[in-house]
Amino acid sequence: MSKIPTFLDMDPGIDDALALTVAVKRLQVLGITTVAGNVSVEHTFQNAHHVLRHLGQALPVTPGAQGPLYYPLLTAKHIHGSAGLGDYTWDTADVPMPQEHAWQWIWQRLQPTSDPCHLIATGPLTNVALLLLAFPESADRLASITCMAGGMPGAKLDKAAEFNVFVDPHAADAVFRYGRHLQMVGINVTHRALLPIKDLPRLKQYGRVGGMLFTLLSYYAHTSRGEGGDPEAFPVDDVVAVAAVDAPNLFEWKSMPLTVVLEGPLRGTVVISPLETKRPEVMVASSINVPEFFEWLWASFDISG
Ligand code: RIB
Ligand code: CA
Repeated sequence: MSKIPTFLDMDPGIDDALALTVAVKRLQVLGITTVAGNVSVEHTFQNAHHVLRHLGQALPVTPGAQGPLYYPLLTAKHIHGSAGLGDYTWDTADVPMPQEHAWQWIWQRLQPTSDPCHLIATGPLTNVALLLLAFPESADRLASITCMAGGMPGAKLDKAAEFNVFVDPHAADAVFRYGRHLQMVGINVTHRALLPIKDLPRLKQYGRVGGMLFTLLSYYAHTSRGEGGDPEAFPVDDVVAVAAVDAPNLFEWKSMPLTVVLEGPLRGTVVISPLETKRPEVMVASSINVPEFFEWLWASFDISG
């Protein structure tokens, strides 16, 4: 079966690095755009390059927004490390930042003659919002936009607001308003699929790539321990969005229009949008088959290339 052509918009970030590793094995990744989120856009850009070169993948990387549409940037350095990938020492040098911006780069590859492509966003949705605002036709030229973002309205969540939507609620709201063919994978499912810390040594059987992931995820297990409620496991949020594109049958889905609380104590909370706003329906992951997800995840590492 041919692999699904997909753009990745990320803020690597340790769990983004896992998502990137699995995506290049499971999907036909066309390129990576990076956004400010876990760390600055300069760091997310360089980190995407470091991981790709470690994977032996020569894919284009294009930087995007320096910060959210409205609010000042809030990073997650305390979880991902000051440069965004723990304390990992790379044997590859930084590369020059291109002048082109993420939304321009994606748009130029969405011309009418191109094959339908998917987009997976695993950071704040600033770049995706700017793509949709600058080039509205992109909404219908993308086969789907899948966001690791928020939490399903009405679901029991372990926190009111998820990081990607909290950092840039205006961008998330714009995506839910102007996007089409939208899928949302929120913490109501990603915080069910917690990776047991005791399973990390399994990664060591997968050579240089497994060794990198073991080091990165061991750091992340320490800093994100207990998030999701289990002290002996930790969330791997972003790779769940990759599964949503490659293996949507691992999930159950509910369709609903969405909006976002933009300010105040509930900033970043995703809520059902009133019908009169006439927003598009978003396919929201309502449940995940956790054993089958982890079967899919571990099988990913056995895929060559
Ligand atoms: O809430 C989890 C999300 O925030 C993940 O994308 C993680 O990388 C951080 O960006
Ligand atoms: Ca991320």
